Amino acid sequence: MAVTIDLSGKSAIVTGSGRGIGRETALLLARAGACLTIADMDEASAKSVAEEIRGKGGTAVAVKTDITRAEEAQAMVQAALSAHGRVDILVNNAAVWTSKLFKDLTPQDYDKDIHVTLYGTLYCSRAALDPMMEQKSGRIVNLISDAGRVGEPYLSIYSASKGGVAAFTKALAKEVGRYNITVNGIAPGVTNTPGSAGFIAAAGGEEKLAKAYPLRRLGQPIDIANAILFVASDLAAYMTGQIFSVDGGYSTVG
Ligand SMILES: NC(=O)c1ccc[n+]([C@@H]2O[C@H](COP(=O)([O-])OP(=O)(O)OC[C@H]3O[C@@H](n4cnc5c(N)ncnc54)[C@H](O)[C@@H]3O)[C@@H](O)[C@H]2O)c1
Repeated sequence: MAVTIDLSGKSAIVTGSGRGIGRETALLLARAGACLTIADMDEASAKSVAEEIRGKGGTAVAVKTDITRAEEAQAMVQAALSAHGRVDILVNNAAVWTSKLFKDLTPQDYDKDIHVTLYGTLYCSRAALDPMMEQKSGRIVNLISDAGRVGEPYLSIYSASKGGVAAFTKALAKEVGRYNITVNGIAPGVTNTPGSAGFIAAAGGEEKLAKAYPLRRLGQPIDIANAILFVASDLAAYMTGQIFSVDGGYSTVG
């Protein structure tokens, strides 16, 4: 008999799911049967992804959310509860990065990257914990980055923020394991998304960058979404506090 991942009856929130890795993840979780909450500060793109899922026969609501505001993170979880009755999966995907040498970054740049990437993850996780602890089950999947594991030049504050998310992932996993809630991280290498297009171009283009990757290509959003689906599923029930690189082998080089 084939082994399948079936998320029927599960409710999943994906932040920053209006485009890129978040969008692909939302579409994949919906294909696996989950009811989706598409949370993004860009309301038009959130609505369009929710509509795309409904058009394919799935269930999805769009919620305009700025994850840098704790009250909006709370409202996002409330919207998921109103629409779907529960919250089983939270994918902390939304993040931003300022690509400059550290010496050229301002304290305002620090604030922006840290606020969205680290604080946003904290606010959304805090909000989702209440229903998950009550249900005594849940999956939190945090998008990290190889930048947060091995450090990336031109991305120092982003690296620091993602390193913070990685440590938070492990600490929270230890706190909430007793509630049958797992907390894991997925660390992509450079992946082709609207958000990374500028970085890829500035680094000399896809072909040049791919040479640093043992698998000789950059990631596609579906490569990352597949890994998120796995850790969000019952197949990963006994894995928590782990960070998985999904990077064509990049973090093993050097
Ligand atoms: N693309 C890559 O090369 C790469 C590499 C490593 C890690 N990652 C991580 O993967 C995740 C997704 O990256 P991506 O490339 O798909 O990003 P992207 O920039 O293409 O999309 C990010 C989405 O997040 C939304 N967003 C931004 N700030 C927000 C906020 N304050 N509140 C709510 N939504 C907000 C944006 O509107 C956008 O829809 C991020 O956590 C990123 O750090 C990406």
